[in-house]
Amino acid sequence: MKIAIMGFGVVGSGIGEIISTSEDSLEKKCGEAIEIVKILDLRDFPDSKFDCFTKDFNDILNDPEIELVAEVMGGTKPAYDFTKQLLLAGKNVVTSNKELVAKHGTELLQIAKDKNVNYLFEASVGGGIPIIRPLYSSLVSNELTNVIGILNGTTNYILTKMIKEGETFEDALKGAQDNGYAEKDPTADVEGFDTCRKIAILASLAFGKYVNSEDIQTEGITKIKLEDVAYANEFGGVIKLVGMAEKTENGVYAGVCPLILKKDHPLSGIDDVFNGILVRGEGLGDVMFYGRGAGSLPTASAVVSDIVEITKNKGSHIELGWVKGDDGYLKPLGNQSFRFYIRLKGNANSADFCREGFNVITLDGEKYADEFAIFTPAMTMAELEEFKASELSDYTILGCIRLANE
Ligand code: HSE
Repeated sequence: MKIAIMGFGVVGSGIGEIISTSEDSLEKKCGEAIEIVKILDLRDFPDSKFDCFTKDFNDILNDPEIELVAEVMGGTKPAYDFTKQLLLAGKNVVTSNKELVAKHGTELLQIAKDKNVNYLFEASVGGGIPIIRPLYSSLVSNELTNVIGILNGTTNYILTKMIKEGETFEDALKGAQDNGYAEKDPTADVEGFDTCRKIAILASLAFGKYVNSEDIQTEGITKIKLEDVAYANEFGGVIKLVGMAEKTENGVYAGVCPLILKKDHPLSGIDDVFNGILVRGEGLGDVMFYGRGAGSLPTASAVVSDIVEITKNKGSHIELGWVKGDDGYLKPLGNQSFRFYIRLKGNANSADFCREGFNVITLDGEKYADEFAIFTPAMTMAELEEFKASELSDYTILGCIRLANE
């Protein structure tokens, strides 16, 4: 099969590397050779082993021999227009572009279906971890109720460095960027937008109705301090940035926020750039996916697995996707109850909170002399606001983080 790559950055060059170094084994797996015949990128790569670069998208669109295109440009412009034109022209598209899938996946999947081609996006979530295919294929016999995951390698790397090595946020971010994990603009990582797009895709697939990432309440890790890490540790927990989605009797909830996970939580030991995703199904119970969630070769390997899948199923449309959700389908995360960790500064007495349902944590050292932390009973966001107004008005709140439900 003749293919093209659009975008020769971290992931695109990884695809080139995997395909060019595994030609024989891929041919055996696919039943035919995979040949890269065009690479679209506006930059020049004079030292590359490939000599099929173009700066003109039409060279790919109008080449009748190209049956499949790997779109790894990122962003929606021009990736959306390009992908749409390619699918309408009857070409298969595989992608790692979570932003595009989260925003326009419903439409692009429909076009792929109408044209009897494929739009696959295994690499859009969890880097090298197979998670998309299990949701639409292996786990399909289950009514899925929960998906919770550490879905961003950059923030997990940063939090791990803060927790294990006491590094500052800035130093740890630099390390993630140097390793090629971070998005072009790391705001998408540290503010949780990348996790948000990924949980939107997982929730849409798991529950069968489109969840718009723009409707998901999202909070990143920029407010987390080393002091919060220390209180969480004393409580027996670690702080992780998670995306979570749950289907309940009252509707579907999704959110992205830092969460304190007790050390016996299955996701608590997932460190560095690794991602972990816990899926709960009614018959299945819990199943966990774990692996490298970012980086060139892990992400490229997921793209190549989609290329193999399409080549093996040549001429047929692989059914996956979701239908449009009704208005009000997604409920605010604030309606769900959680326990909260709250770090307080002030003169009043921590003994006020030594009562049923609460935990109080004090730490030794001058730095902590004028402060302490409480863990509240489970409450909704509205109840939390009420609690703050009635009981915490004499304190300065230095930090507030949800605690994972059991
Ligand atoms: N910036 C993303 C991450 C890349 O750190 O997980 C993979 O999606």
